[in-house]
Amino acid sequence: MDNFDLDSAKVLVVDDHPSSRMAASALLAVEGYAVLEAENGPSAIDLVLAEDPDLILLDVMMPGMDGYEVCRRLKADEHTRLIPVVFVTALDDRQARLRGIEAGGDDFLIKPFDQLELSARVKSLVRQKRLNQDLDHAEKVLFSIARTVESRDPNTGDHCERLVKRGKAFGEFLGLSRSEVRDLMWGGYLHDIGKVGIPDAILLKPGKFTPEEFEVMKEHVTIGERICQPLRTMRGVTPIIRHHHERWDGSGYPDRLEGDNIPYLAQVFQLIDIYDALASERPYKRCFTVQESLNIMQEETDRNWRNPELMKAFTEFIQVTEIKKPNRDLWLERYVKRPERLTAS
Ligand SMILES: [Fe+2]
Repeated sequence: MDNFDLDSAKVLVVDDHPSSRMAASALLAVEGYAVLEAENGPSAIDLVLAEDPDLILLDVMMPGMDGYEVCRRLKADEHTRLIPVVFVTALDDRQARLRGIEAGGDDFLIKPFDQLELSARVKSLVRQKRLNQDLDHAEKVLFSIARTVESRDPNTGDHCERLVKRGKAFGEFLGLSRSEVRDLMWGGYLHDIGKVGIPDAILLKPGKFTPEEFEVMKEHVTIGERICQPLRTMRGVTPIIRHHHERWDGSGYPDRLEGDNIPYLAQVFQLIDIYDALASERPYKRCFTVQESLNIMQEETDRNWRNPELMKAFTEFIQVTEIKKPNRDLWLERYVKRPERLTAS
């Protein structure tokens, strides 16, 4: 993980005083960094957009747009938010630090610079930035593979998009944590990513699978897990990918897990996935009504394929969101507009 080329890292120094700029630039140049300089906020932002530096040393007090404002703008932009910003202050001012943190700054340095401190901070932030950037890129790659998989099968339409929306709503209905809701939403996009490894002849076959074909089809869950496993941010999503076809009585795949041995989020996700397949049109079936879909899922739950408690909650969720629309406000009041969520957002 450490094998990036520090020498090629670009650092932007922003300061309205030429002497301060030159001092920082000289120290960084000695360390082998390529140094860019800007003397005010607007030209700093232009340079960031044009040059995509690996780190910004940002003076706080500048005429016109001050350092805080520059930082806020960069952190609000999807393209620049990952670039670490180090605020440079003249003295160890607590108020300035607090404002810097509020503006989204990543670190602080005090003028005049201590060469060793500057070198250590810059090195570690640049390293961190490159790792974050790789992760971000890797996630984007995964999501675009997943979209490609979905588009190979023209019959699923906006299946994933609906799963993401309903996953978020059902997750909040169940009172899951913010990160669990996120995992559920990512599961909506990524659960079938392993289908990328299933041949078209099987994936797009119109009729029923032969037992041999079904064995190949089942592999999509383990292929998907292998694709996403290396990423730390996918830790909560891979159990959904691997286990979204397990059944409560142990008759599912790939591990024939029973009951609560099936990861909870995979149980939750499965209900959303099945409901969507039932309640939308597919080449092999018509679109069932809300009540018909719930009935079929209840039959399967009675057959011991799903968690009965969770199915009860899902039925209530669908009833308040899809059937009793007039009660929707009540539901929103009860499950979504809870005080802690209001303050958090
Ligand atoms: Fe699947």
